[in-house]
Amino acid sequence: MPSDSYFFAQPHFLRIAGLNRLEVISLLDKADSYVEQSRRRQKTSDRLQGLTQINLFFEPSTRTQSSFEIAGKRLGLDVINMPIGSSSVSKGETLLDTAVTLNAMHPDLLVVRHGASGAAELLSQKVDCAVINAGDGTHEHPTQALLDALAIRRTLGDLDGLRVAICGDIAHSRVARSNVALLNLLNVEVRLCGPPTLLPSDADRWGAEVFHNMDEAVADCDVVMVLRLQSERMDSAAIPSKREYFRFYGLDRNRLSHAKPGALVMHPGPMNRGVEIASDIADDLSISLVTKQVEMGVAVRMAVLDMLATARNEAI
Ligand code: NCD
Repeated sequence: MPSDSYFFAQPHFLRIAGLNRLEVISLLDKADSYVEQSRRRQKTSDRLQGLTQINLFFEPSTRTQSSFEIAGKRLGLDVINMPIGSSSVSKGETLLDTAVTLNAMHPDLLVVRHGASGAAELLSQKVDCAVINAGDGTHEHPTQALLDALAIRRTLGDLDGLRVAICGDIAHSRVARSNVALLNLLNVEVRLCGPPTLLPSDADRWGAEVFHNMDEAVADCDVVMVLRLQSERMDSAAIPSKREYFRFYGLDRNRLSHAKPGALVMHPGPMNRGVEIASDIADDLSISLVTKQVEMGVAVRMAVLDMLATARNEAI
């Protein structure tokens, strides 16, 4: 059972922006203990037994949805995955009507992924339970940033003073936004790199140095994080071709050689191999954290579910 030494209270978990360093560290410490629980043969505890978690995913998801489900079950929660395709949503029910309907069933935790930025926050104002943002449009994906930080911390130790390059489709990436906010809190030097068409115009105000040249961006970095091309969010052709994109912005061994020796490679998944990242480095376990990120995802989500459920219990 994790220690409750510093346990902050929040009604919802919607974004990294607004958290402080101590809050982030307390969540990472708690997640650390859940990594150990998840590696045991007996993985399930009764910590949150009797509570109900509903997963409401309006966008496709493999890693995030399944890890929220596993995380809830490992804490003893009853977990329901709402099948959006076969629910009333496909009959035209609005997001808010769906939320109000689910709310009447007295869930304790609602995990939401939606294509519109701000959707999770909107829901949190309409329901009685705790809402967790599992990715809202291009805005934030706070548990992804936490799991990325945990994967780095467990591999390299303290994050203080590290240099991390986040590369690719920054403009459409909620992962990039949450990561910049969190890495800044942990004193990491962050670089953003992508073609001008995939960098938001205000990127230089995010708290990161902006690059358009990959070799320069990865130079002397401890970690290179590669992002997926979010073609579902692009209105027009933002890149000439996938082949061309890989040539200038794909991460291969040659490009990685500009980073620090032994630099780590990350990708939130799903990966487009040969477009964003070369397979041989994505699969090289001596440098790639891709599967470790997935493992950390379960532990971090357990910590967030636990924090919210405990905060609400104490508030009653
Ligand atoms: C990310 C997401 O959905 O924002 N994936 C994930 O959560 N593992 C990134 C992406 O889809 O490219």
